[in-house]
Amino acid sequence: MLQGKCVLLGVTGGIAAYKATELLRLLVKAGADVHVVMTRSAQEFVTPLTFQTLSGHPVHTELFSLVQEQEIGHISLADRADLILVAPATANLIGKVAVGLADDLLTTTIMATKAPVLFAPAMNTNMWENPIYQENQAKLERYGYHFILPVSGALACGWEGQGKLPDPQAIFDFALPLMGSDELAGKTVLVTAGPTREEIDPVRFLSNYSSGKMGYAIARAASRRGAHVVLVSGPVNLEPPANVELIQVVSAAEMYAAVMAQADQANVIIKAAAVADYRPVERSACKTKKSACQKLTIELELNPDILAELGKQKGDRFLVGFAAETHDLNKYASQKLQQKNLDMIVANDVTQEGAGFNGDTNVVRLLFAEGSTEELPRMSKDAVAAVLLDRIIARLAAI
Ligand code: PMT
Repeated sequence: MLQGKCVLLGVTGGIAAYKATELLRLLVKAGADVHVVMTRSAQEFVTPLTFQTLSGHPVHTELFSLVQEQEIGHISLADRADLILVAPATANLIGKVAVGLADDLLTTTIMATKAPVLFAPAMNTNMWENPIYQENQAKLERYGYHFILPVSGALACGWEGQGKLPDPQAIFDFALPLMGSDELAGKTVLVTAGPTREEIDPVRFLSNYSSGKMGYAIARAASRRGAHVVLVSGPVNLEPPANVELIQVVSAAEMYAAVMAQADQANVIIKAAAVADYRPVERSACKTKKSACQKLTIELELNPDILAELGKQKGDRFLVGFAAETHDLNKYASQKLQQKNLDMIVANDVTQEGAGFNGDTNVVRLLFAEGSTEELPRMSKDAVAAVLLDRIIARLAAI
C-alpha cells in the first residue's frame, strides 16, 4: 500500500510516545520507508533503539551531528519525505512551529519541507483547551497543516477529557490519503456493512452473524485511495474508519432508505452488508410473553432487495454485490450477478474455514459481468478489500 513512500515520523516527549512504536509498525508493514526523528524529551519516554529496530534505520536526534548530517541532513529528510507525521505532538512542538521557531532537528525539518505535515496532538486536557494552544492549531490549519484530533478518556495525568492520542490504526488511516494515493480521488464510493436487525418486539430481533468487518475493510481501503466514502452500517461493534461519512441504520428498511438517498452521488456502490431478506409482519409494542403453547409462529414478509433496486437504476455506476452461500457458490452468485444487474459479485462460501462471517479473513471468488472469474486464496479482509478496489479501479479506467 505504501511501497515507495517515505514517511518521516516525528516523536515528541509525551507519555503517548510509546504508541508511536505501533504506528511505526503499521507504516512499515504497509511498505513505507520510515525515518524517525525524536526530540530530546521524547527520548526520556522511549529509547531511540526501539524505533531504530522497528524502522531498520538509525534514529535522528541531533540537528548538528556530523554523521547524521553527512548521511541525510535535515534538508534531505525534509525533501525525501512524502509525509511528515508527528505523533504524539506536544503543545510545545505545535507552539514552536506556529511561531516559526526551528531550534531542533524536528522543527527545522518541518519548516523546510514541502510535504504534507500531519500532527497528532496529545496532551493534558487543560492544555488542549487552552486558547493559546487552540489559536496555534487554528493558525497551522490555516496554513494547510493537518491535524487528527485527540480523543477523550482518562489521561495519564489523572484528568478525564480530550487529550489522548488516537489509536495508531486511526492515525494510520488518516495519514494514508495524505500520501497521494489518489486513484479514487474525486469519486464517491458507497459501501454497506454489517447485519440488519428486524425487530420482533422491544427486546428481540431477527439478525445474522455479520460483524461488519468486511464492509469496514472496504470503506477503509477506498478512503485510503482518496475516495469520498459513505459507509451505511448496520449495528456493529467496530470503530468507523477515519475520513468516512458514517450513516448508522438498524433495519433493512432503514438501510434501503439510506442507500437510496446516497446512491445518486455514488460512482461505485459495494454492498457487503448482510441484509435480512424477511422481517416480521408485525412488531409487538410490548415484550411477547411466554405462554403454555409449545409453538409460536412469527409471520414474516419480504424486505426490499436494495441491491436489485440499485441494479434497476444503475446508470453508469459501478455496482458490486456480495453473495454469501453455503452450497453451489458459482450457480447462485452468477444468478445474483445477472438478476441484480451487477458489474461484479464477490462470492464467499461461508461454510469454508476462514471465510465469511465475523473472522478477520475471507476466501472469495470474484465474478465479473463480462464472464471472467477470479479465485482468491484465504487472505485478511483488508487484503480482500485491496484486491477488490484494484479490480474496480482497473475497470473504471477502462470505461
Ligand atoms: O460482516 P462480516 O462478519 O465481515 O462478514 C462478511 C459477509 C459474510 C457478511 C460478507 O462477506 C458477505 O457475504 N456479505 C453479503 C451477505 C448477504 O447478505 O448475501 P446475500 O447472498 O443474501 O445477498 C446478496 C447481495 O444482495 C448482497 O450484496 C446483499 O447486500 C444484497 N441484498 C440482499 C438482500 C436484500 N434485501 N437487499 C440487499 O441489498
